[in-house]
Formats: sequence, C-alpha cells, structure tokens
Amino acid sequence: MLGSSMYALRLQRVELKHASRNGIFRRWMSVRPQDIGISEVRKKVTIQSLYQNKANGTPISMLTAYDYPTAVACSSHPVDITLVGDSLAQVCLGYPSTTHLSVAEMIHHTRAVARGTTHPLLIADMPFGSYHTGIEDALRNAVRMVQDGHVEGVKMEGGQELTEIVRRLSSVGIPVMAHVGLLPQRHIAMSGYKVQGRDRNGAKRILADALALQEAGAFSIVLEAIPKELGKYITEKLEIPTIGIGAGPHTDGQVLVWDDMMGTWNGHKAKFVRRFANAKHERDSGVEAYCEAVKSRSFPDENTESYSLDKNEWAQFLEDQKSQ
Ligand code: KIV
Repeated sequence: MLGSSMYALRLQRVELKHASRNGIFRRWMSVRPQDIGISEVRKKVTIQSLYQNKANGTPISMLTAYDYPTAVACSSHPVDITLVGDSLAQVCLGYPSTTHLSVAEMIHHTRAVARGTTHPLLIADMPFGSYHTGIEDALRNAVRMVQDGHVEGVKMEGGQELTEIVRRLSSVGIPVMAHVGLLPQRHIAMSGYKVQGRDRNGAKRILADALALQEAGAFSIVLEAIPKELGKYITEKLEIPTIGIGAGPHTDGQVLVWDDMMGTWNGHKAKFVRRFANAKHERDSGVEAYCEAVKSRSFPDENTESYSLDKNEWAQFLEDQKSQ
C-alpha cells in the first residue's frame, strides 16, 4: 500500500513537471517557474569559435551575469561569453570588495546563471583565496566550480606567478581565462583601482605576463585598465583572444559589468564604462508607482486584478456562516 502510494506520488510529481514544462500551469501565478523563453536559438559558443572570431576579426561580446534573469538576458542576445564575475561581491552582495567573496557564495550564483545559460560560453571568476594556497587547492576549487557550479571554465587574476596553476588546470581540461592589468582582487596591494602599464616597464611586465599565461595554456585573457596602445599591441602579439575592459577598442572582445552597463550601479563610474541603459531610473519609478498605487488603493483593481466567487456559492457561504 505504502509502496503504491509512493509510486503514485512520484508519478504525480513527474506529471506536474511535464505539465509545467508544457505551459499548462502558465496562467496560474507570476512566481511559477517559467520556461526560459528564448525565441532565437543560437549556435553554442565554443573555444574554437572564439578563436575563429579572433582570426576573422569578429568582436567577442562578454557580459557579466549573477543570477537566472541576467543569464537569460545574455542567452537571449548575441552575448558570446557570460561571465559570473566576482564583481558579484559588490554589485549583488553588498561587500566592499571582491576579496570578501567565498567559493560557496560564488557557486550558489553560478548554478543560477547556468540554469539560464544556453548558447554563451559560461565562465566564472575563481574567488580570492581559492587559487592562492597551492596548485592542488586551486585544482580542487576549480573542479568544484565546474562540477557543483556548472561553469565551463574559470577566470583568474594574475601574471607569471600563476603559470603552473594554469598549466595544471588546462592539463585536466578546465579552460582558464587569464586576467592581467588592473587586478581588483589585489586592490590593496596595488593601492587602489588604477590604470596599469602606463610606463614602459609596466607595459613590458603586462606583455610578459600575457605571453607566459598563453604559453601555460590559457584559452583567452582579460586585459583590464591598460592604455589602448598596449591593448592593441598585446592583442596582435597573442594567438588567444583578448577581452578588454578599459583596454581600448582594438582588443578581440569587450566586457562590462552588468550593473555598470545597465546604469544600476550607484558607485564610482570608471572612464571606460558606457551606460547602455538607465535601468535604475526604470526600477525606481516602478517601485515608486507601486507604493503609490497600494497606498491610494488603486491597486489591485476590483474587476481586472481580483478573483470572484459565484454569487450563489457566496450567498450559501454567508447562510452557512449564520448557522455556525
Ligand atoms: O569581476 C568581474 O566582473 C570582472 C570583469 C572583467 C568584468 O572580472
């Protein structure tokens, strides 16, 4: 008896799942799990296709995402790489810097982003401290990011000191995106978030780092906050695609932080940030309008936004109440 009711319960769960996938419950609630709703099916971005982009001069678009809706937005447009950046720490979790973010917090977010990711290549930052305590620790944490966090590759900030880690991860098939120039995880050591490689020695060091990381197996590299001449020079010297953020227009691709790009970030706006939307204005006026409507009782509308009961049922209900 117990066995058959357990079986019925499981069957019911499977049927519910099937029904919701097919949109049968679509009209019920606005908090229902939605189907991903992407109309245009794009070809999956691969490391090979990124190399083709570099070869034929087609710019690579990378954008950060931190949760399911931002991931779906990336998947709905020609974003090539979705990056769960550790900027997550500041823009979503309210930490003062990326150094506060843990691997567990990162994985919680990468799983949500993975659920909303279709064609873009999904990369995530290795949080500060997760690759600084030895090669085997770095490997263990990178495996967690892939296995539990469902990402396709990892990004790490640093230069030649990371080559052995990059080699080890690449050797077991974990694609590594390198990151040189301004390294936000080292903002204290770097005395702030400053443009890097502004003199010839600094520029030589960044070039040497980029070449060493490529040689170690990095499949791509982020160039952050460096002069545009250097961005162009490194891009021409490297065989792997370069993704710039504040590195000028001649890199193989560009990346921006979602909140910078959407205009929802209240903090400092770097010179290289362009606001492509004013979502903060939209968001704030929506919240304002909602509060106003609730307080003036104009929401919900009695006819169009409320449910009603059959008149006879209601009369009977009231009658029944009298006899109680
Ligand atoms: O954390 C981040 O968002 C990044 C950038 C390159 C955008 O690393």
